[in-house]
Amino acid sequence: MWTTVVLVTCFFVVVRIIQAFVAKRRLQTFAQQHGCEEPEDVTGPFPYGVNRLRRMLTLATSGEDILDDIIGSDFTNAATVKFSGFDGNTAISTTEPANLQAILATQFKEFVGGDRRYHCFKPAIGHSIFNADGAFWEHSRALFRPQFSRENINDLEMTDKASNSLITAIGSADASGWTANQEMMPLIYNFTLDTATDFLFGETVGSQQLAIAARTGQTGTYSSDDDAQAKGVEAQAFARSFAIVQDYIVMRIRLQSLWWLGDGFEFRKATRTIRKFTDRFVQLAINTAASPSKGEGKNQSLMNSLATQTQDRKELQDQTLSILLAGRDTTASMLGWCLVRLAIHPEVFNKLRGIVLENFEPDEPITFVKLKDCRYLQHFLNEVLRLHPTVPLNSRNAAKDTTIPVGCGSDQKSPVVVRKGQVVLFCVYLMHRREDLWGEDALKFKPERWQHRIPAWQYLPFLGGPRICLGQQFALTETSYLLVRLLQQYDAMEPVHWDEMQKLKKGLGVTMWPQDGARVRFHKATAYQGTIANCI
Ligand code: HEM
Ligand SMILES: *[C@@H]1O[C@H](CO)[C@@H](O)[C@H](O)[C@H]1NC(C)=O
Ligand SMILES: *[C@@H]1O[C@H](CO)[C@@H](O)[C@H](O)[C@H]1NC(C)=O
Repeated sequence: MWTTVVLVTCFFVVVRIIQAFVAKRRLQTFAQQHGCEEPEDVTGPFPYGVNRLRRMLTLATSGEDILDDIIGSDFTNAATVKFSGFDGNTAISTTEPANLQAILATQFKEFVGGDRRYHCFKPAIGHSIFNADGAFWEHSRALFRPQFSRENINDLEMTDKASNSLITAIGSADASGWTANQEMMPLIYNFTLDTATDFLFGETVGSQQLAIAARTGQTGTYSSDDDAQAKGVEAQAFARSFAIVQDYIVMRIRLQSLWWLGDGFEFRKATRTIRKFTDRFVQLAINTAASPSKGEGKNQSLMNSLATQTQDRKELQDQTLSILLAGRDTTASMLGWCLVRLAIHPEVFNKLRGIVLENFEPDEPITFVKLKDCRYLQHFLNEVLRLHPTVPLNSRNAAKDTTIPVGCGSDQKSPVVVRKGQVVLFCVYLMHRREDLWGEDALKFKPERWQHRIPAWQYLPFLGGPRICLGQQFALTETSYLLVRLLQQYDAMEPVHWDEMQKLKKGLGVTMWPQDGARVRFHKATAYQGTIANCI
């Protein structure tokens, strides 16, 4: 019995060693033919990334930051390196614009999301735009393109309603003009959940309004208390389950090749809840598509328009949840960083407010074109996403043995060899902070730097190439809209815990958010002439 176990184990170990040897030889030959090498190895004194793992596990006591300290230390000597993960596989890691351009655009077909990404997300979003490659990805991208057209984004009615609700939720000001201290992140998460569900399903979960109604004891737009209560319970369950699903996805990604360990009853239950939530909308959309005459007019939600192209229920569900996952927390995190920056830089707040008041008359509709034309507002957003890209870290998988353009040799200018299946990590966050790319003041928050700069491959908050974020304009429009409304409404903003907020500590999951939140108070502008429609 034991001898068999030992023999079988030995057999597999020998096979692994031979495989590794053959792979190494193959790669050496490839590298010789293509004049490329492997980059500097920064794994450290112990194999299998033991060093990295130890640092990850002691973050709480060491106070180290994952991005600035742990990943940052990989790039002390070079912008492209390799290291071993705890599963024994080596990965390439880069912050070099030329390499990103190759991976995302010029050599697009050679770098895929890969099987692991597919599996990490699969229980929640099945096979859909966010985790697909190849032909199915192309199909998905084509399916969505019309939905993200300018006309659809320019329909800002729901953003307006959600902004009103958020301002109502902030609450009224006291005699001195200040609102109560308010942790803004939960309100923002509800704001983006409301706008995203409206855009996707043609009906918002209305989480902000429901919460306001519950606090004030009004039922508002709902016909009865029971109705409002049922909706509230549904919205809450959805929001909670969605958060659980995201936590598990992050765990699966961090587990690398052991992703399948990130599973369990809680995860499965939460995915069932969010999928069940979409059932009603899938049914409605299929009905509408079947009898187009009924569907004329205002019901062109993303789900409705997808349903004119496919009636496959599972696909409709997967694709819409995929968009929700891609768009909700990313936008919320961005809004969070915008508020943090406005609160700790009063001079930026005042400048931006002055420009907003000049450009947007109270009660005049805020349009896509006007938002885009407001240059300082765009520079502000660019700068927020430079220092706080809400997707800070990302990766691709090599579909074949290949090279990326720079990172080897004594001058680090010669190409780097990449093995088929190898993970290439790229840290947009660190690239956005490189002094050699951005100047000595790279770490300073300076919207003015954008006056003379056209974003290129050293600035990639939404990535680039064929797989660039589909929701970029949607997110920027929604964010600018809300900021304009807030700046019209309030003439000052103060952090409640100045010191804490200035540390800019970041929470890291699928996105990167202000970990200490955005606890602020606002000062109501007296001169402001516009009215806030009572949203209840
Ligand atoms: C500040 C907000 C946002 C940021 C920073 C952001 C960033 C990104 C990034 C970095 C990717 C590339 C992921 C990858 O391929 O590895 C991406 C993809 C995507 N984003 Fe966004 N996003 C934001 C908001 C949105 C919104 C609001 C939506 C939709 C309403 C959206 C929809 C998508 C979709 C569908 C993809 C997948 C595209 C594809 O694979 O072809 N995003 N986003
Ligand atoms: C967000 O919405 C949910 C669902 O309506 C609600 O329970 C929660 O209290 C809201 N959060 C805040 C801070 O209002
Ligand atoms: C349009 O949307 C509303 C709200 O979701 C729904 O009550 C109505 O039935 C929809 N109409 C059609 C034709 O789908």
